[in-house]
Amino acid sequence: MDQDKQSSTPNAATGTSRDGFTSSFGVLAATLGSAVGLGNIWKFPYLTGTNGGASFLVVYIIATLLVGLPVMISEIMLGRKAKADAVTTFQKLAPAGQPWWLISASGVLAAFLIIAFYSEVAAWVFAYVFKAIGGAILSSDPKVTSAAFKTLISDPVQALLWQWLVLLLIGGILLLGVAKGIEAVTKKLMPLLFVLLLVVAVRSLMLPGAMKGVEFLLAPDFSRLSAGVVLTAVGLAFFKLSIGMGTMMTYGSYFRDNQNIPTTTLRVMGADLFVSMLAGLAIFPAVFAFGFAPGAGPSLLFITIPAVFASMPLGHVFMVVFFVLAAIASTGALLSLLEVPVSVMSGRLGISRKRATVINLLVLALIGSGCALSNSTLSGFTLFGKTLFDLFDFLTSNILLPLGGIFICLFVGYVWGLARLKQALSNEGALENGRLVRVLFVLVRFVSPLLILVVMLRGLGVL
Ligand code: PFF
Repeated sequence: MDQDKQSSTPNAATGTSRDGFTSSFGVLAATLGSAVGLGNIWKFPYLTGTNGGASFLVVYIIATLLVGLPVMISEIMLGRKAKADAVTTFQKLAPAGQPWWLISASGVLAAFLIIAFYSEVAAWVFAYVFKAIGGAILSSDPKVTSAAFKTLISDPVQALLWQWLVLLLIGGILLLGVAKGIEAVTKKLMPLLFVLLLVVAVRSLMLPGAMKGVEFLLAPDFSRLSAGVVLTAVGLAFFKLSIGMGTMMTYGSYFRDNQNIPTTTLRVMGADLFVSMLAGLAIFPAVFAFGFAPGAGPSLLFITIPAVFASMPLGHVFMVVFFVLAAIASTGALLSLLEVPVSVMSGRLGISRKRATVINLLVLALIGSGCALSNSTLSGFTLFGKTLFDLFDFLTSNILLPLGGIFICLFVGYVWGLARLKQALSNEGALENGRLVRVLFVLVRFVSPLLILVVMLRGLGVL
């Protein structure tokens, strides 16, 4: 069981003053805040919509258990053991001279690429909160909502300004620190997010004809499955759980020594899946009730959803609530993404957190503009047939995160070893979880890395 609330002093065991999470609820809120994000509200619904509904959901759940769980536990465990940024963690824990820190270096790169496109989607969401309040996107005609969305994304000034605003907000929170910034903010926002999402889901389920949407989410059609679909599900599991790139490792370094890592991880995964399902239940019943198509793809959130809400009584209010909750979700995730390079930079270069945050924001404003302008000034600029926005999304979910996951598993399975795994996950013998540790060990040694590799190579068309 959790030995919650025993210590409110971060890293009491080490006696250092390193910033960290101060309560069990704080750990849960921050970690869940990282996992829950636009992945739940934007990616999960549109990917489920375009990949066959419930059958995709089944594959996704299997992927989270066989691949997500072991990688997430491993990352948090290594971070807590080293109590350092992601790059230093591997340097501290790996045998001298072995370049395992490259995993974290590739994680920092992945963080940059994800923030670059993610902050732009968050930018649209924040813009939509204001547009929803003002009624500018309140039309039941998808042609009108589509035109409104196109106007927003194809205007370089709006696209850039909203993105920079989002980056400033996230940077401002990070400047407050881990406990006073990340933990304090996510502790307030996560419960609010749950309540708002629940309200919208109940409203959507009460619509006449809502059952068709529920069926779409819960009745599998396995004929839609293919290697590409399985890769998408594995990629989504990595993205959704914020794993494979050092985010959970960084947050793990802020965990308290008496936190039960496997229990916390299971709770975060369960709650994250619950939020994804709630988002599905908020969206699909309403989509079907008003006769819209579920497979609209990435624009589902920005074109279909406003039209759906505009079709229902009191839709204006629910639309505002919906985009506010999406904005909240993106905030927690972006905090954890930016924390990776900020902690690496301040930890390795010995510069203050403030300086590290400002430098990272400046670099990100630059890389991010490449994605912000993907629909306007830079729409003609493609690499490998993709705009920067699509390329960064594809590279991270389908290549960098799965690769990071494979190497994290190999490190724990073959370098770290069973004895240290047992020691670290039992909190030096205080917890009884021997069976779980043995199952986990088999997973990280054989099942997870092989599975990720095969799925990755098949999905990329190599196998
Ligand atoms: N898990 C977040 C989401 O679902 O929106 C996205 C994310 C956050 C991915 C942090 C990766 C990460 F390191």
